[in-house]
Amino acid sequence: MKSEGFGKLTTGENTTLYTLSNEQLTITVSDFGGSMVNLWVKDKQGNPVDIVLGFDNVSGYEGDDGTYIGCNVGRNANRIHNAGFFLNGKKYELDKNEGTNNLHSGFNPYSKRMWKVNSVNDNSISLFLFSPHMDQGFPGNMDLTVTYLLEANGLKITYDASCDEDTVINITNHSYFNLNGQGSGTILKHKVKINADSFIPVDTNSIPTGDIGNVSGTPMDFTVSKAIGKDIESDFETLHNTGGYDHNWCINNYDGTLKEAVVAEGDMTGIKMMIFTDYPGIQMYVGNFLDDIKGKEGKVYNRREGICFEPQFYPDSVNHENFYSPVCKANQPFHKEIIYRFE
Ligand code: GAL
Repeated sequence: MKSEGFGKLTTGENTTLYTLSNEQLTITVSDFGGSMVNLWVKDKQGNPVDIVLGFDNVSGYEGDDGTYIGCNVGRNANRIHNAGFFLNGKKYELDKNEGTNNLHSGFNPYSKRMWKVNSVNDNSISLFLFSPHMDQGFPGNMDLTVTYLLEANGLKITYDASCDEDTVINITNHSYFNLNGQGSGTILKHKVKINADSFIPVDTNSIPTGDIGNVSGTPMDFTVSKAIGKDIESDFETLHNTGGYDHNWCINNYDGTLKEAVVAEGDMTGIKMMIFTDYPGIQMYVGNFLDDIKGKEGKVYNRREGICFEPQFYPDSVNHENFYSPVCKANQPFHKEIIYRFE
């Protein structure tokens, strides 16, 4: 384990970058946002390749204007229609930070706060954030811990939380992957398989219509591995609405246990990543909005040069009775896992 300065915030506060390694991979994590900054895995020749987009120092993360690169997104990831919901008969209002809707919980994201490093060693780091009652508009005082754990052939991210009131908890990792190496260009030739027979159609504001769509015979079908670019320009309404893949897939046979959600492969490096999660859904966002982002090591990130796989409850699920509920009961443990395994 190594720790080094990651730069000063505009407040003058110092930040730290932690580096953890095992034989297969190396990650770096910042105490600002608890964000994952680098993830090096080995290609076919055994050369380390950094497969996540990011910034060289904390200023990039502090100044980030809506990409959420490498972030932990909470208390609720994705969109909430009309920036509000009812819980136990009470109306809660959130920031309207995308038109009249709420995206990734609003103007004061967890990714722009300092997290407290609770423990760190050679293969794991745990960071803690306290989110007080009505923070971002959500009820209840919540303790949240994110743990990054290096395993023999991958990385496990765990979210543990508890809250003193019933609340919404739907926190995820928002890393942009490029399995050919960060800054190496388009991800359109990456091959992806998603273990999902259905998906969540959305309108022109990326808000779920409430339907659950069948992928069969549509460009949303990733049940058999295919290149991201293969059907991305197809004439299909919900795909037009979002300007490319930016949807939630419903992981088959969800029962609260870990399931393999995604297998993705970089066409240039042959790096293969499998994602497992115990969330019911996974958002695949192919970086449609990336535009001239000045990233690590002089690289510039443009449209579709990174791909997010965000395990989570379906978008706006707090407002849909036919979606799995993201409500966590008072004083009940919240525990979710995301595992990235490499070949
Ligand atoms: C994703 C979302 C996209 C976009 C992005 C941030 O999670 O699906 O629509 O908002 O975050 O730029």
